[in-house]
Amino acid sequence: MAKKIEMQICLGSSCFSRGNKEVVAFIREYLRKNHLNDKVVFKGARCMGLCSNGPNLRINEKIIEGVSLSGVEQILEKEFGNIK
Ligand code: FES
Repeated sequence: MAKKIEMQICLGSSCFSRGNKEVVAFIREYLRKNHLNDKVVFKGARCMGLCSNGPNLRINEKIIEGVSLSGVEQILEKEFGNIK
């Protein structure tokens, strides 16, 4: 079976206060709608040490900074569009 993609969202206080709570809800819904829960493991993470550029998201080894609610769908489509 293919290895699952690991996606972590920073839940440190800085990223959280910049809107990661809404982004988490959006990502959960996106994964559910697109039947990606068996391909992508989505978890919260501690501070990634990049607070001033947050909210931050990590997909496998790649860190994506400045993730906003308005931009997150585009990021997910780019990363997962070919597997959904
Ligand atoms: S709180 Fe998210 S990188 Fe520090």
